[in-house]
Amino acid sequence: MSNQILLAPGPVQLHPEVQKILSLPMIHHRTPEFDTILKSVLTNLKFLFQTKNSVFMHSCTGSGGMESLLINVLSPNDKVLAIVSGKFGERWADMAEAFGAHVHRLNVEWGYAANPNDVANFLTKNPDTDIVMTQACETSTATAHNISELGKIISKTQALFLVDGITALGAYPLPMDNYFIDGLVAGSQKAVMLPTGMSFVSFSEKAWQKIPNARCPKFYFDIQKENAANKKGETLFSSNVPLIRALDFILSRIKELGLEKHYAQLRRRADYSRSMAAELKLTLFSKSPSDSVTAMNLPADIDGVKLREYLEKKYLLTLMGGQDQLKGQILRMGHMGYITDTDMHETTLRIAQGLIDFGTSLDLEHITNASKKYLKETEIK
Ligand SMILES: Cc1ncc(COP(=O)(O)O)c(C=O)c1O
Repeated sequence: MSNQILLAPGPVQLHPEVQKILSLPMIHHRTPEFDTILKSVLTNLKFLFQTKNSVFMHSCTGSGGMESLLINVLSPNDKVLAIVSGKFGERWADMAEAFGAHVHRLNVEWGYAANPNDVANFLTKNPDTDIVMTQACETSTATAHNISELGKIISKTQALFLVDGITALGAYPLPMDNYFIDGLVAGSQKAVMLPTGMSFVSFSEKAWQKIPNARCPKFYFDIQKENAANKKGETLFSSNVPLIRALDFILSRIKELGLEKHYAQLRRRADYSRSMAAELKLTLFSKSPSDSVTAMNLPADIDGVKLREYLEKKYLLTLMGGQDQLKGQILRMGHMGYITDTDMHETTLRIAQGLIDFGTSLDLEHITNASKKYLKETEIK
């Protein structure tokens, strides 16, 4: 075993071509060469978001994108319903409070998806709700929410539906316009398959009607100014040239492959991981497992913090553990980024070996054969 494998739910392994593009000599962002690239990514991002509206880029991590979505439509004292089913739901609710919103937290047991009926009931009782916010995938629990159903419900009200698609957009279908999403954010180091450092946001027409009157203070994330700059073929501030060049490659590649085939690859990785979890005698943590990340419950007698560190040091395998109440109890494996079948097979074997070293009884030969068989039988041509 010689290669390091990074299967965290972001940051992700990079496509070899992306690594090459990132090492190209720097060019200025006010050049004809970059103008062409910028035009191409701004068009192709609409394809990824499946929206007819503009998509904007910010040079910041995903959390900055979440802030941009929020403050461009929010005024202090607005009423927000925040679905909180894990760490990232908590973060967004905290953020809305920091900007002066009245936040009602719809707390959902970790590992479960929000029940759309609960949202419908809340909105019936509170028709003055301004915003409903949720993660598409709550990464801390590897749980996918039912965005399509939630979108239908919220679209019938005055509320805007803001969705954190940071571990969803680019990993599985999340068509912004069809799902009645009013604000959607993606992050570069997740399903967009780039290094950390950019976020992407888009707003629906319903949201654009609110944007000019939203009174939250803003400067860097002022989307009306960003929109005006994009219309002139520029970004509002210095463009993130290396990442945008790499993004152009990623988007062109996904477009060439087609969204369906691209998503099928991620689904296959997720299905493989679920199937291998059973071979490793591990159960799934989430009751609504996402195709972008899988969380596996560890046996009660294994300290997950120690196992994760051990896998990292001894077997050069980076996975993530649980956060807060799940610390030491689960292993989370990402399916986003550049992942080969060899990476997946090796990952299964390294986890198996780690579990054996920690005292679990497993048949390594049987697991090896089951993994090879699965990968061969499900190969996507
Ligand atoms: C669902 C979700 N939202 C938000 C974030 C925060 O993104 P960042 O760390 O890029 O700010 C993450 C990162 O893990 C995430 O998975």
